[in-house]
Amino acid sequence: MSESETRTAASAADALFDRYTLPKVALAVILTASLVGTWVTTTLNGHASAALAATKWAYFVALGVLTGGLVWKHAFVRPADLDTGSADYCAEMYARFDRIATGALAVLAVGGAVVLAGFRASLGPTPAVYAFVASLVALLPLAAVATRHDGSVEAQFRSPTGLASLALALAVVVATAGAEVAVRSGDPVAVGVRVMHLLAFAAWIGGAVWNIFVAVPAGKRRPTLAVVRAAGEQLERFRWTVRLVIPTLLLTGLYQAVDALGTTVGTYLGSVVGLAVLAKVAAIGLLFVIFLLCPMWRACSPVEGVCDLDDLGWSDPKTERPADSGRPDGSSEVPGDD
Ligand code: HEM
Repeated sequence: MSESETRTAASAADALFDRYTLPKVALAVILTASLVGTWVTTTLNGHASAALAATKWAYFVALGVLTGGLVWKHAFVRPADLDTGSADYCAEMYARFDRIATGALAVLAVGGAVVLAGFRASLGPTPAVYAFVASLVALLPLAAVATRHDGSVEAQFRSPTGLASLALALAVVVATAGAEVAVRSGDPVAVGVRVMHLLAFAAWIGGAVWNIFVAVPAGKRRPTLAVVRAAGEQLERFRWTVRLVIPTLLLTGLYQAVDALGTTVGTYLGSVVGLAVLAKVAAIGLLFVIFLLCPMWRACSPVEGVCDLDDLGWSDPKTERPADSGRPDGSSEVPGDD
């Protein structure tokens, strides 16, 4: 699509509705699809309780927000961002994320106890349960210490406690997947597939929450060119992750569906669990469309230029400013609001 066509599409989208709603719609779809997935698993595991499914879902969301957020904090933010006048922006993002992570850890502690009770009742004192407890018990205090770190961004970036928290959060995702699958089969391929499904989910929901509740509010408070460049590059790293996440969720989801329900169409159309799986296929289709529309409509962020740095007219974004920035420091007003 040419530049003028893209701008026309963005204007048309503006005329129709607030295009910055799209990332929030995507987050709502991810939340709903994960709730449906958790309900499907608890039902297939023989515990058809809505309260248990809801508690496990809250646990998964907290784990995803923490894990995906730590990925953004230590992988999508880069030291190069800090050399270009965006250190304050990164510091505010870190502080915002730490507050969110504190809430996620509280949910993880309570939800983890409920999930553990379920694993113990189904599996007894087995290695899968020990691995789950060990990783969770190690993660909670360490990540709590990491969120209390009030040093500079450079000191926090890839700090030993930060990286250890990320490693342990990933370990909890793997251990949860292993114990969940062990309840029914323990087949190593099924464990690997579930690990991929949950890792993809965690990376997506954690990144979506960071973008909406961390990056956008922090960027709107100081929309300078350095910040827009850093934010745009970080967002692009997340978008590359999503390019991997979408096919991963679809393929691992299809594998699990065929593994649990087979390939007979009637099974899907004639049971609530089957319809739930079909709803998830529809959800991933909708998310794919949103993923395509967001950059086309410049809807990834209300901070101008973050969606596509080319919009600011840089030939070399590290050195040049747009001709019409109108401010000595190259800052620009934030257009619109979400
Ligand atoms: C839209 C994005 C998606 C998200 C956020 C998501 C998330 C989840 C989550 C959190 C679980 C619970 C796993 C557990 O309790 O260990 C799950 C299970 C499941 N998901 Fe997804 N999922 C998505 C897409 C899909 C797709 C496209 C399919 C395709 C059919 C699918 C099929 C399944 C199945 C069958 C299960 C149950 C597995 C089992 O218990 O054997 N998911 N999903």
